Amino acid sequence: MNVVRLSNVKVRYRGGEGLKNVNLLVRNGEFVFLVGPSGAGKSTVLRLIYMAERPADGQVVVGQFNSNAITPKEVPFLRRQLGIIFQDFKLLEDRSVYENVAFTLQVTGAKRKDVKRKVLRALTNVGLSHKRYKMPHELSGGEQQRVAIARALVNDPFILLADEPTGNLDPVTTQGIMALLEKINARGTAVLMATHNYSLFESRPSPRKRVVRIENGMTST
Ligand SMILES: Nc1ncnc2c1ncn2[C@@H]1O[C@H](COP(=O)(O)OP(=O)(O)O)[C@@H](O)[C@H]1O
Ligand SMILES: [Mg+2]
Repeated sequence: MNVVRLSNVKVRYRGGEGLKNVNLLVRNGEFVFLVGPSGAGKSTVLRLIYMAERPADGQVVVGQFNSNAITPKEVPFLRRQLGIIFQDFKLLEDRSVYENVAFTLQVTGAKRKDVKRKVLRALTNVGLSHKRYKMPHELSGGEQQRVAIARALVNDPFILLADEPTGNLDPVTTQGIMALLEKINARGTAVLMATHNYSLFESRPSPRKRVVRIENGMTST
């Protein structure tokens, strides 16, 4: 089963390069690295997948959703089936670790007991349940990214999108985050990770992993 497919996708930006021709397939349970230099179009590809952006041409299919057919009302339903993490973590600074992970469940009206069970499970998976009462600024960068990963996983997404997830982290912390993403992937969640750092793929080979290259808004494998 395919979880994500971009076919002949073009995106135009006034003044910028945009995407010229992007083709990308992520199958169930795969770990795909989207690798290319800064400005190549990696973040744009991820924005297309969570449908913050629409292609000018071509088609983006994510789970049961299609960029040519999805309505604005359906976009939040799509997002709830995805996990997304970023280089700068994007945690809510005035809320505790627990509240950061609970937030998306609470806004969708989940029962308190279910929220608690799911949040503690997600925090345990990233090794941080003991820090649930801390505030983000009390954590290291690597711990903050783990909280962001717990938040991304709390809805059991079929794919985790990661945009330069180790871009702000030192090499040792980076290896810990990569190992965590591998563990999540081994449990069945597909991972699509955008990075300019090809060595992150090379240094930790695995049969589940694959590289798609992007340069100047065009993919090649
Ligand atoms: N909002 C925008 N407006 C204009 N140009 C943009 C915008 N976002 C990205 N671009 C351009 O699109 C191209 C791809 O950008 P991006 O997807 O951020 O690349 P990457 O994540 O690989 O560094 C670049 O040429 C960039 O300048
Ligand atoms: Mg980027």
